[in-house]
Amino acid sequence: MALVDELTELREQTLAAIAEARDTSALEQVRVSVLGKKGTLTGYLRSMGQIAKEERAAVGKMANDVRRAVEEALDASKANLERQELLAKMDAEAVDVTLPGRAQQQGTRHLINAIIEEVSDIFLGMGYSVVTGPEAETDYYNFEALNAPADHPSRGMQDTFYLVDRSGDVSRVRGESDVLLRSQTSGVQVHTMEENRPPLYIISPGKVYRRDVADPSHLPQFHQIEGLVVDEGITFGDLKGTLDYMCKRIFGEDRKTRFRAHYFPFTEPSAEVDVSCGICHGEGCRFCKGTGWIEVLGCGMVDPNVYGFVDIDPEKYSGFAFGIGVERIAALKYNVPDLRMLLDGDMRFLRQF
Ligand code: DAH
Repeated sequence: MALVDELTELREQTLAAIAEARDTSALEQVRVSVLGKKGTLTGYLRSMGQIAKEERAAVGKMANDVRRAVEEALDASKANLERQELLAKMDAEAVDVTLPGRAQQQGTRHLINAIIEEVSDIFLGMGYSVVTGPEAETDYYNFEALNAPADHPSRGMQDTFYLVDRSGDVSRVRGESDVLLRSQTSGVQVHTMEENRPPLYIISPGKVYRRDVADPSHLPQFHQIEGLVVDEGITFGDLKGTLDYMCKRIFGEDRKTRFRAHYFPFTEPSAEVDVSCGICHGEGCRFCKGTGWIEVLGCGMVDPNVYGFVDIDPEKYSGFAFGIGVERIAALKYNVPDLRMLLDGDMRFLRQF
């Protein structure tokens, strides 16, 4: 075939290929195959030197014409395809601003946190500080320095979670570890008295752990608020006045409190505090099991033996301590029938508070 015919055919084939290209990348392939470094037309243009002189001008002109025609067709097609692609993209990404939005559910403060904040506010108002303590404790802070006898049942493996050390030492699996998940916040009393000198007025909210199976009135992990006051001249009257005030603030002015003698290793004397039943107001009903009273917390005067562990002079200072079960307060204040509801994350329950 004569060169001129070859060029004419190349031109027709290329223009047809350009017309058929459905997107810019197909078009780019056509361009490279014709005009690229190893492209067909580039090949012709390069080999001009080998063409007979008399033909060269005519063939050269024609090759250039073909190139121009191909370039023009490429440009036009490219602009067209780019516009189409842009339109398709805008279509695909279009947002219908007239569609109603999807409402985001708002979270709420959890009842447990609400109670902790409420109690903290009451004590902050009386000049107390809020402190925190570690959840992983040693036997010393959780029991020993709180005057708990070595054979106290709460120190056994049945009641307390003991932690295994990283070596995986099996003696620790058997419960011989002295690192545990605290079973009460009372250890914060010891930390506080070790690190600070009286006067001390603190509360300490936090998580505690016990080896209980969750049921309507027990949870293996729950919350307590510990309280501790140490100062000169603190009496049981101060303890009663403080906790009576707190109970009235939480449950209502009309509620009465009573202090029942009890035993805790770290307080002497010790008491449990009851509030008058909010359902029957002291008459006796099913909720208070006919007694007219509901137990809400434990308390007492700090035992002098505890001062011995933290080097505070019991001749000079006296104080009181108390421990409040947060879940218990929540359940009593809002009549929550099953403590497990506090863990379920059911918004129908949680949103009520
Ligand atoms: N730690 C006690 C418990 O878990 C509660 C308690 C009672 C704390 C009396 C105190 C206290 O500080 O004085 O049952």
